[in-house]
Amino acid sequence: MTQNNQNTSSQDNFEKVDRSAFNQDHLIGIETLNKDEINIILDLANYYADRLDDRAFKPNILKDQIVLTLFFEDSTRTRTSFEMAAKRLGADVVNIDLRTSSLSKGESLTDTIHTLHSMLRPDAIVVRHSEYGAPQFISKLVDCPVINAGDSWHEHPTQALLDALTIRRKLGKIEDLKIAICGDISHSRVAASNMILLTKLGAEVNVVAPPALMPEKFPAGADTAQIKKFESLEEGIKDCDVVMMLRNQMERMQAGLIASEEEFFEQYGLTKEKLANAKKNALVMHPGPMNRGVEIADDVADDPVHSMILEQVRNGVPTRMAVMDILMKERI
Ligand code: NCD
Repeated sequence: MTQNNQNTSSQDNFEKVDRSAFNQDHLIGIETLNKDEINIILDLANYYADRLDDRAFKPNILKDQIVLTLFFEDSTRTRTSFEMAAKRLGADVVNIDLRTSSLSKGESLTDTIHTLHSMLRPDAIVVRHSEYGAPQFISKLVDCPVINAGDSWHEHPTQALLDALTIRRKLGKIEDLKIAICGDISHSRVAASNMILLTKLGAEVNVVAPPALMPEKFPAGADTAQIKKFESLEEGIKDCDVVMMLRNQMERMQAGLIASEEEFFEQYGLTKEKLANAKKNALVMHPGPMNRGVEIADDVADDPVHSMILEQVRNGVPTRMAVMDILMKERI
């Protein structure tokens, strides 16, 4: 597809987007979105993605709005991507790093949120937290949209949306594709949100993991009839259109679940040889940060044809612009 074609089709999409069909006050997870709501976000994200390199494109739709980012966990790319997205829409951004904060002085999460909310009166809050359900809890304390930027192993909705945008822009659709998600499925919020989103949009999903990292149950909202489990990477990625690799989430993993990184790479690291089992031009994806030589080989991560890894990072900005546009614009 040429850049011009993309512009035309996404312009059409943008004009056709009926925001009234989007009935959410917050973005806590993919679980609560229906197919139409997911497609509204992706259509708008595609429109913004086509215009990302045009510095003169300044929609300014969030002028005089304040976006507060609250990161209780480490993050570089996700926080920066939200900040860039908010600024491209004309909002002011206040970033608060809460890894070391009054919480360590014993203040409760409720008091911290009430304090920041009365001080800043934000128009949206982006939150990342190591506890499952924290964004939903915060959404009940405030009067503005809350966007989940990752909570424990629960969900990371904007990552799944930007992954879907990347696939859609490259392969033109999600429906009927065969997509493998490989590695630490048990502890990954990215795997969870992707299983839900991809099955809602009609893809077939293969999850590949050693038994110790394979969950018994799939996340709420995923269509389990469309998900198959595999222990072998070669079999799991066979004839797949997309191969998504994951980082081992050591921060949430019991000790001893992985024998050694060398052994893990031997069986589950994506190499050129193993990738040959997937479709010829299969897309290779990874949410980052990557551990080269553990879940992915250098030459696969850097492959100019297969690797979508930098494209995913790029698509994070327009995806988050679309989410903020949809959740915040109505309120202006
Ligand atoms: C992911 C996350 O934080 O869940 N990374 C990200 O958002 N860029 C995946 C990971 O940390 O492995």
